[in-house]
Amino acid sequence: MSSRWTPDSWRTKPIEQVPVYMDPAALAEVEDQLASFPPLVFAGEARELKAKLARVAQGEGFLLQGGDCAESFAEHGPDTIRDFFRVFLQMAVVLTYAGGSPVVKVGRIAGQFAKPRSAPTETQDGIELPSYRGDIINGIDFTEESRSPDPQRMHMGYRQAAATLNLLRAFAQGGYANLEHVHQWNLGFVADSPAGHRYQELSDHIAETLRFMRAIGLTPENTSQLRSTSLYTSHEALLLGYEQALTRVDSTSGDWYATSGHFLWAGDRTRQLDHAHLDYLRGVKNPIGVKIGPSMTPDELIKMIDLLSPQNEPGRLTLICRFGADKVGDHLPALIRAVEREGKSVVWACDPMHGNTIKAASGYKTRPFDLILKEVEAFFDIHRSEGTHAGGLHVEMTGSNVTECVGGAKALTDADLSDRYHTHCDPRLNADQSIELAFIVAERLRREREEHPQPEISIAAGE
Ligand code: PEP
Ligand code: CO
Repeated sequence: MSSRWTPDSWRTKPIEQVPVYMDPAALAEVEDQLASFPPLVFAGEARELKAKLARVAQGEGFLLQGGDCAESFAEHGPDTIRDFFRVFLQMAVVLTYAGGSPVVKVGRIAGQFAKPRSAPTETQDGIELPSYRGDIINGIDFTEESRSPDPQRMHMGYRQAAATLNLLRAFAQGGYANLEHVHQWNLGFVADSPAGHRYQELSDHIAETLRFMRAIGLTPENTSQLRSTSLYTSHEALLLGYEQALTRVDSTSGDWYATSGHFLWAGDRTRQLDHAHLDYLRGVKNPIGVKIGPSMTPDELIKMIDLLSPQNEPGRLTLICRFGADKVGDHLPALIRAVEREGKSVVWACDPMHGNTIKAASGYKTRPFDLILKEVEAFFDIHRSEGTHAGGLHVEMTGSNVTECVGGAKALTDADLSDRYHTHCDPRLNADQSIELAFIVAERLRREREEHPQPEISIAAGE
């Protein structure tokens, strides 16, 4: 397992979830071309993100990670990116204020194209075709042509990721992230939401803080922190040929970095210790994540941490827990205890989406908002009783007004699902549900902060 690593050493390992390309020569040609293209992100940015996550691992700050289950080529457009960015910032602002500590923003965006599937093929009306594996691999239409993996799609994925990242960078730095505007958007949400009264107090506090800052001369015009932000990109490192082509040596450190995104993770279906996906991830120096579900055991978890984070470097590894609301209590405490006993440094994040997917009576795959909330609450409760830091939230969400998850303040029902069910894969929280979840988590962060003030903060206040 600890044999020499190269960007292609994963190719000698067993691998799950791999598409079958009809023309291997065409695939190799595309991978060669990608290997000559510019990186999408650079190592310095990945290191900066790792340093921010290190603080989260040490108990200070919170990771907010979210975006589409699967980005689609058809929905690639400025409005989708803008709406996501706006909602994500709205969430981050309430979490930052309530938690009183930095929120590290990581989008599932600009590269989240490849999907693991529960079966390699799908049968409709007696016809069997390869399963849809994400737009970077094949098409969602149920025809033979569309479902055949096409290497040219990697080019399109790369170009779409570059264009998306370009706009995100412009939004983050060019004035769109102005805190006063973000607050205005939140006021709109509070005014509109049937549960708005619940969030009024928090939003009044933020308004007061902004007024105070303006009064003492700190404005978005003269203070860059009030008008710009940093947003990092992430996706599941599933399509390893694509990842390998974008793996580059950083000239500053001489280390290998994945340059397809700042943060990559392995999914719950591809995290076998001796398989290809973890082999790839162990060799790149980016901050990385692994999804862990009910099948993870404490022993295996410690082995996995040793494999992926042999130096036990804070910020290197995020464990994205996705057990399901009714299972998290059975699994998470033992895993936390093993990590604590072995003195490992990780960021604990909660993905309350993937363990709570159900089939509605209408036939749609959905996720009840109440179950999502229940898993988040249980995640916080467990960390509270173990004395560890509930460090992040990982959600599938969109800035658009879709109808994919049931519940929330606007009480979407099964009957509403057919209105705007657009996801290419799993059901996402819509804009209102996402912001609502952020307000609820923010209330929790604030309660925890009030009940357990951070030692550094009380010292600083006493100085
Ligand atoms: C996902 O994040 O879309 C996903 C497939 O998750 P998991 O690996 O946790 O099932
Ligand atoms: Co998903």
